[in-house]
This record gives sequence, C-alpha cells and structure tokens, in this order.
Amino acid sequence: MSTPEETAPYGTGPATTPAAPTKRIRTHHLREMKERGERFSMLTAYEQYAAATFDEAGIEVLLVGDSASNNVYGNETSLPVTVDELIPLTRAVSRSVRRALVVGDLPFGSYQASAEQAYLTAVRFMKEGGAHCVKLEGGVEMAPQIEKLTQGGIPVMAHIGFTPQSEHTLGGYRVQGRGETGDRVLDDALAVQEAGAFAVVMEMVPGDTAARITKELAIPTIGIGAGPDCDGQVLVWQDAFGLRQGRMARFVKQYADVHAVLLQAARDFDADVKAGTFPGPEHTF
Ligand code: KIV
Repeated sequence: MSTPEETAPYGTGPATTPAAPTKRIRTHHLREMKERGERFSMLTAYEQYAAATFDEAGIEVLLVGDSASNNVYGNETSLPVTVDELIPLTRAVSRSVRRALVVGDLPFGSYQASAEQAYLTAVRFMKEGGAHCVKLEGGVEMAPQIEKLTQGGIPVMAHIGFTPQSEHTLGGYRVQGRGETGDRVLDDALAVQEAGAFAVVMEMVPGDTAARITKELAIPTIGIGAGPDCDGQVLVWQDAFGLRQGRMARFVKQYADVHAVLLQAARDFDADVKAGTFPGPEHTF
C-alpha cells in the first residue's frame, strides 16, 4: 500500500495561508476613500493565483475584464469573448480573494440590446461567477441599463471615454474628450452617476478633462490613460507586470518583467531535463 503524500501532488486550494477574517472592500468604501482624498488601485485578474497575490498586496478592486479576450483567450480584441467564457474566470477570482471587490465585466453584445438583457447577463455574473458588481461600457446611452441593474440589486461600475467594445464606431484606439468634446465625456460621467453607477472608469481621456470630471462627480473615477487626478487607477496586469511582450500603450508603466522570469525558468527546466539532472535524488521516491 502506498503512503500518503505530505502535500497534494499539484497546486490545490488557496494560494495564501488562511488567516484571520479580513474586512471585505465594498462599493461604499471606495466612495469614502474619495471623500477622504485617498487613492485606490484596481488590477485585472483572470485566475486564482494572480487574484490571490493581488489581494494579498492590498489591491482594492480586481476586474475580471473582457480584456481576458486578448490576455487569456488569444483574440486580437475584446469583441469575441463571451459570457460563457468569462463566468468561469470570474468564479475563479471571486473564490480566491478575501478582501478585494470583484468586478465582472459584461462583454460586447451581452447588455447593449436592452435593460432586460443587461439585467439577465449581470445576474449570471453575480450568481454563477460570484462577482460583487459588474462593469459595462457606455455613458448617456447606457443610463437605462445602469438604472435597471442598480434597482435590481446589482452595483454597476461604468466605463466611459475610450470604450474598447466600440473601437469600430470610435474609429480605432483614440483619446476621447480632447478640446470641446471634453463636455461630452462630462455629460457621460454625470449621466452614469445619475443613473446609479457607484464608480466610473475613464479610459484615454486627457488629464485635465479627467481632473475636472473627478472634481465634479461624487462617485469615484478610475483612470486608465486619464492622468494622475482620478480617485483610482487601473491597469491590465499582463501589461503592467510584463507578462505580455510588444508595444504598450503610453499609459502603461511596467513594474516587472514576468515574461523574462518565466522564460528563464522554462529554459532552466528544459536544460535540466535534457541533461538528466532533474529529477535529482531529493525529488525521487
Ligand atoms: O477589460 C478591461 O481590462 C478593462 C480595463 C482596461 C478597464 O475594461
């Protein structure tokens, strides 16, 4: 009869050692932070270990972004990803964090048709994905969706400025709200706040416009390419920590080179296997 192993043979369970209960970040905490003049951070996360690590680091908000389309599923844009593809990722993230607010991102085509469609999709993210709230793209035109969701018990994070799901309508990756069109972004911000959104992401908006909007709004703003004056900042983790290679948007700061670390580790493993130096006696039963 074989003897039981001391540890499970493959990764299993939480990435961090369970500790004392932690106070969960709620939507009202972000608003209170804004009122106190404190900044907060948000990162994307799409699976267990990254989510648990970012949670341990104190990141307040984790977004299971539709950017999983490009960063997990290998698509070129965020357009092809489906609700059925995003829900298991959302479930993995929500199961793996103890403190962070988990945002499920409604993908293209899953909420634009009507407020009812938006509600049914958002319910799936909350029930099946364990999300604490959802994000959707759009300003004035999304007010009915935001109202329906918030009245139905689903907190909504809005997303205005450059909205990647509309890249073909917007004519590509372009800064939104330059010059006079800044008022249009402000109108969107006021509309989503009025409709009940608890926060709003502003993507690729000039810094002065974003600063003006942040001052005008009672709800927190979260910038991505929107300058330093937003209440929070968000980045896609594969960009910020260097897992993805290649050209980066100007707003990305690279904090690590995870690709280089993984590449070296994979090469070392490969070399050991080919040289017959792995496994050694200490790895052998
Ligand atoms: O899907 C995503 O990663 C996003 C962020 C860029 C805000 O929407």
